[in-house]
Amino acid sequence: YANPARQNVLEQIQKVVKDPVDIRSDIARLRMVKQPAEITAIQKAVDITADTMAEVKSRLSNFKNEKEVERAVSAGFFAHGGDGHGYEPIIASGGNAATLHYMKNNQDLEDSTLLLLDVGANYAGYSADISRVWAIGTPTDRQKEIFDAVLQIQQKALDVLKPGMLVKEFQHQMEEYAFKVQRKIHVDIDRYPHGFSHFLGLDVHDAGDYTIPLQEGTVLTVEPGIYLADEGIGVRIEDDVLITKSGIKNLSEKIPKTL
Ligand code: GLY
Ligand code: MN
Ligand code: MN
Repeated sequence: YANPARQNVLEQIQKVVKDPVDIRSDIARLRMVKQPAEITAIQKAVDITADTMAEVKSRLSNFKNEKEVERAVSAGFFAHGGDGHGYEPIIASGGNAATLHYMKNNQDLEDSTLLLLDVGANYAGYSADISRVWAIGTPTDRQKEIFDAVLQIQQKALDVLKPGMLVKEFQHQMEEYAFKVQRKIHVDIDRYPHGFSHFLGLDVHDAGDYTIPLQEGTVLTVEPGIYLADEGIGVRIEDDVLITKSGIKNLSEKIPKTL
């Protein structure tokens, strides 16, 4: 390992315990199933994010630069009782949204571009993780077409997700569907640029075991996207969902998905 910390810790532990047992995977499996108090905290983080996004969207025409949007989001998270951001926010206009972990958030907002916000408030240590895309000015037909395709793929993902599924199966099934939808609008990408889902909780990419079936109490994201750097378009729509006994509960259902 490039970072010696792990080996150093192990050596210290071995001074007092001869055969230490690595329990990280057990802890990860425990963290996968959220207790009611944890679900309440995640829901609160999502609600703070929802209220903040609604306010920021209503004032969108006042903002001239991605940085101003970021500041408004940060202020909103605190104003609504959150403890800042759960992770580095992404405020990406136009082609910047095609860079997956764009974090400069400092470009001027150009008319007739799309603005991607991937933000999540932190509440009691738990994070939300929400992506929405809004139009700056009037969207073009192509922007609307790409947005509608991602919306359709995301709706399908929300429809098929259920307990008992493996995240890998879900990913595979959704990629097939996404490629079909995308081909119709001349988006010929045959490798999906990121996972459709990850666990969410204390960490935005929370601990868990991706090799065991989804079970009641797991919280994960549903986040398809289409990224076209050469067309200056990046669209991702991301919700946070709870796996229930028979299906899912979308914790971020109330955040509108309109341009
Ligand atoms: N915001 C990071 C992610 O969506 O995974
Ligand atoms: Mn995510
Ligand atoms: Mn995200």
